[in-house]
Amino acid sequence: LSHSSFCSQECPKHLGRVGIMAASLIGLLLLQAVSWASGAHPCIPKSFGYSSVVCVCNASYCDSLDPLTFPAPGTFSRYESTRSGRRMELSKGTIEANRTGTGLLLTLQPEEKFQKVKGFGGAMTDAAALNILALSPPAQNLLLKSYFSEEGWGLMAVPDALVRLIPLIHRALKLSQRPISLIGSPWTSPTWLKTNGKVNGKGTLKGQPGDIYHQTWAKYFVKFLDAYAEHKLQFWAVTTENEPSAGLISGYPFQCLGFTPEHQRDFIARDLGPALANSTHRDIRVLMLDDQRLLLPRWAQVVLADPEAAKGLCGLQVLGAECASWLLGSRDAVQPQHHHEPPVPCRCPIIVDITKDTFYKQPMFYHLGHFSKFIPEGSQRVGLVASEKNNLDTVALIHPDGSVAVVVVLNRFSKDVPLTIKDPAVGFLETISPGYSIHTYLWRRH
Ligand SMILES: *[C@@H]1O[C@H](CO)[C@@H](O)[C@H](O)[C@H]1NC(C)=O
Ligand SMILES: *[C@@H]1O[C@H](CO)[C@@H](O)[C@H](O)[C@H]1NC(C)=O
Ligand SMILES: *[C@@H]1O[C@H](CO)[C@@H](O)[C@H](O)[C@H]1NC(C)=O
Repeated sequence: LSHSSFCSQECPKHLGRVGIMAASLIGLLLLQAVSWASGAHPCIPKSFGYSSVVCVCNASYCDSLDPLTFPAPGTFSRYESTRSGRRMELSKGTIEANRTGTGLLLTLQPEEKFQKVKGFGGAMTDAAALNILALSPPAQNLLLKSYFSEEGWGLMAVPDALVRLIPLIHRALKLSQRPISLIGSPWTSPTWLKTNGKVNGKGTLKGQPGDIYHQTWAKYFVKFLDAYAEHKLQFWAVTTENEPSAGLISGYPFQCLGFTPEHQRDFIARDLGPALANSTHRDIRVLMLDDQRLLLPRWAQVVLADPEAAKGLCGLQVLGAECASWLLGSRDAVQPQHHHEPPVPCRCPIIVDITKDTFYKQPMFYHLGHFSKFIPEGSQRVGLVASEKNNLDTVALIHPDGSVAVVVVLNRFSKDVPLTIKDPAVGFLETISPGYSIHTYLWRRH
């Protein structure tokens, strides 16, 4: 899993809370809702000939923002990124008592409540760790800061190579001022537990849930968590399997382990749930699916039909996207992570050029910041109703204490869209959504 958003709901505490997680990869994820660095420095843009630019960072320079402050009452903040090269540029506006605009009206409906946000993050694989560690120490620090400092975001995925990753995770935790949640997500079991005897390709656990193969694989989860606990790293959740459908595909090239929803249901109910319940990790959450959203809702229906598997269900909905490509600056319009958008395109947020001791922050990095910086854990999505049909992707959230509203507006088309945002509690925000841009709006509600 390279980046994704997680929604959570409070649920009865039990051995493993079961949630749904879409599209992810291996190992361990760090989630948080924050932005990147302190002290504002502009982006040093570089074009690689694609539609947008990347921001260049090296051992002595990296773009960053001031720590987040909330606008004074009666005013709003707007952060703007555009295909043409703006990156999180801040401007201020006044909230009007009366509407002056005539175009699109977006009305906040705080009484219409949806899910709460757990956080945002990205995955760090062993390969990512290798690349980061190949930079000079000062460049490494700027990169980790970009993700994890007061405003950074990030999440990590780990194979079993604890040695390289654990120090990086500790550095990330140190830079972060907000809690980071770790998620573990396995790719494949050892080959001797598998029907095809290989890490990749079409293969599942041998035998049936409840048998020695399944019990053994469940024990691996406990051992994994024990090993990290020895290094003082506690996990928030594990997923049952990264992309369980991959291991049902003949010739699948990467590490995988196939599960049907029925198989996963029985593995959770008979093996994984009991193994975790009988360990010191009994409060950890278990996330199911961890795969493409196309598999919803059937996957959830099958697994949750079993009361043993469904114990402690939270009914989580998670969106995700994997990062398998690295075109530099090739796209600046990433879909916002909310309920009705098309699949999130896949781009690495940061690319490292070891030979130049340089790293490039891609448009994706800033897109994620448009959410993660402003939407802390516990924020709740609320209604945002448009006065007319339009091409914008929009989402509204309210901070956990109710004091701050956040609206993200993505314009994936060339046309500028004048618009007014109405918050019945405070008034009207007059603005414009330029073609190929993403905006985050922020204001106090009381
Ligand atoms: C690092 O980037 C800054 C800003 O672009 C530049 O002034 C400086 O020369 C670069 N340092 C190296 C060693 O390339
Ligand atoms: C704003 O609207 C209120 C009624 O909602 C009206 O009383 C007031 O005169 C208006 N102010 C301006 C400046 O138009
Ligand atoms: C529970 O854990 C203990 C100690 O780790 C172990 O001896 C026992 O077999 C486990 N029971 C089950 C049902 O896994």
